[in-house]
Order: sequence, then structure tokens, then C-alpha cells
Amino acid sequence: MSITKEAELIGMQEASEAVAGTLKEMTNHAKPGMSTKQLDDFGAKILAGLGARSAPQLAYGFPGCTCISVNNEFCHGIPSDNIILKEGDLINIDVSAELNGFWSDNGGSFVLGEDIHQHQQLIEASKQILHKAIYKIKGGIRISDIGHLIETEAKKNGYKVIKNLTGHGIGKSLHEAPSEIANYRDKYNLARFKKNSVVAIETFISTTSTYAETGDDGWTMTGNKGGFMAQHEHTIVVTDGKPIILTAKNGIWN
Ligand code: CO
Ligand code: CO
Repeated sequence: MSITKEAELIGMQEASEAVAGTLKEMTNHAKPGMSTKQLDDFGAKILAGLGARSAPQLAYGFPGCTCISVNNEFCHGIPSDNIILKEGDLINIDVSAELNGFWSDNGGSFVLGEDIHQHQQLIEASKQILHKAIYKIKGGIRISDIGHLIETEAKKNGYKVIKNLTGHGIGKSLHEAPSEIANYRDKYNLARFKKNSVVAIETFISTTSTYAETGDDGWTMTGNKGGFMAQHEHTIVVTDGKPIILTAKNGIWN
């Protein structure tokens, strides 16, 4: 969406604070021995308390409130009683929701407790790349140039990017134009970021895979060549200068 009046900015700020606060609290709440369903239920209570509704549930009928993906699961992991979190797991939580007609989206990967499987380097690379990408975005910048930056930075760090997962426009619904903000230079995408538009920028940095594939449950995505992936996501407003990071409260850069 494009922000045309103060009330829209306030609406987006409220929806964004709801998803950002929920992501932060869920990240802090995750503990070894807990199931991903328990963690999802915890997040669902927070969102409901704020009057927000799960975006994947509302928009796509996703069987959970938030997406929780563990280890080789890249994204869209279904919260389950059978997935028990363990020390050193690579966990991705993605929280998106609708509040008063405004939609916001954010996500982050982290290691649970001690980094016994050495995932932290991948996570740090993803966080830093998201930071670099977001602070390059302003009105008039080509979307494909941001994709190029993300891919180049990933390569510099010895990683790959997932080509079929992208950031997206957001605001009046979960996924809007621009529909694909890729993590590589898509030479066919000539579109530019527009001032006052709201977009969700997300990294998909991986150790070995370049495509994500949907599993038998119809949701959970893993890599075409296995390995691990880190994702970090903020919803932002594009300006003439530094973007407004609507989901800053999630603390993924801290
Ligand atoms: Co998103
Ligand atoms: Co998301």
C-alpha cells in the first residue's frame, strides 16, 4: 500500500508493533523441551490480546497462528506437538497479522541456547545483509538492485540465496504489489521502490540450497539441496531518505 494520510501510518504502526512485540516475546519464550505448538499458542495469545488476527491463517488457511520452522525446515513450518525444541536448534519464527484492516509481517532466525551446531555465523550474515539492504532502499531505487546487493553480500560470506522466496508489498493485505522483492538480481524486474509505499523486506540466506520446495504437508518448505537457511524480515515505509522500520521493536538486529 501507499501511505497517503496520517491515519494509515498510525494503522500500520499499530499492526507492526503487534507482530514485532509478538515475535520478540516468542523468541525470548522459546526453551528446550517446548513443542513448536506450545510456542505458537503463546504467540497466539499475545496477538489475540492485542486484537490482531494471524495473517497466514486469515489469508491462506495456514494450520497455525505463526510459522515456526526448525533446523532443515526453511519456512512455513506448521506448529506441532511432535516437534520438540532442543538446545542448539536453528529456529525461524515468522509472525504476520492483521489489525484494524492493516497487515504487517516480520520474522527472524536464531539459535536456541548454546550454538552447538555453529549456526550463528549464518544468522549474523542474514541480519547484516538485511540491514544493508534496508538502508539502501529509498524512492527510485530499482528492486533488482537490492536483490543484487543481497546476493552479492551472501556470496561474500560464503552463502547462497533462495531464488523462489521473496519480500513483497504489504499493508491492505499480506501480499501486495510489488509482489516479488527477490534476493538476487532479477533482470526482468524493472520496477523501482516508490516513496510512501509499505514493503516487507526479507532475506533468505542459505548454506547449500538455492530453491525451497514444499513438503508432503503442503506447507513446510525445505531446501532443494538440504542444508540450513536464515531469514530476517522487517516491514518498512519507503521514504526519500532512511526508511521507517515499522517492526523495529522485534529486536532482530540487537
Ligand atoms: Co513476508
Ligand atoms: Co514473514
